Amino acid sequence: MRQLLRSLPALSGTAPAFDPEAAPDDPLELFSAWFATAVEHRVPEPHAATLATADADGRPSARVLVLKDVGPDGFAFATDARSAKASDLAANPRAALGFWWQPVLRQVRVEGTARHLGVEASADDYLARSPASRAAAAGVRPGEPLTSVDELRAAMSDARARIDADPAFVLPSWQAWLVVPDVLEFWQGSPDRAHVRLVYRRDADRWSHGLVWP
Ligand SMILES: Cc1cc2nc3c(=O)[nH]c(=O)nc-3n(C[C@H](O)[C@H](O)[C@H](O)COP(=O)(O)O)c2cc1C
Repeated sequence: MRQLLRSLPALSGTAPAFDPEAAPDDPLELFSAWFATAVEHRVPEPHAATLATADADGRPSARVLVLKDVGPDGFAFATDARSAKASDLAANPRAALGFWWQPVLRQVRVEGTARHLGVEASADDYLARSPASRAAAAGVRPGEPLTSVDELRAAMSDARARIDADPAFVLPSWQAWLVVPDVLEFWQGSPDRAHVRLVYRRDADRWSHGLVWP
């Protein structure tokens, strides 16, 4: 492994132009611009982010999920209330999101506080999913021991039959969440290692930003 790891290239993407002096005051505006650039450069699944949480004892964990929305209020995602991330957030709402867009050498880091968006937003999110994806969510018991993948497929297929029979069914444990950010970092990698780190911090309702050393 040691040899293999050291033989692999890092920072092999191509950095688009970025002038931190011209960055907007609002980091969500910069996030939208960087996201559009990632899509233009065909970054694979740029909406997949790593969400880090910690439980009540401070034990951290991280996993990938997809963003459902980004707006002035923050970063929305959806998950099952029975999942480890949802119980972490119920006990400790501090959360972080990480994006790595390799083709454009860009990393975005977000820190904030997560809040549950409520029953209506959760139901809307659930009903907007495809029937297969609703069945996949409804047929599982997140984190519980599973005997075999066949058992999983059978449970999903039962759930699909229930959903086809009742298309208005909403999984009660489905939850939409929002990470309300107070720190965002925009990291523009550079092949010569002069990486640019632009950090935004929120104090009350005002954002300030500045460069930090890489
Ligand atoms: C590309 C990708 C997208 C995913 N999207 C979601 C998602 O939107 N919501 C979700 O709960 N899990 C999603 N997952 C699964 C999570 O990574 C994770 O396995 C699951 O939510 C259980 O995590 P937890 O036990 O830490 O809560 C996704 C995984 C991948 C690789």
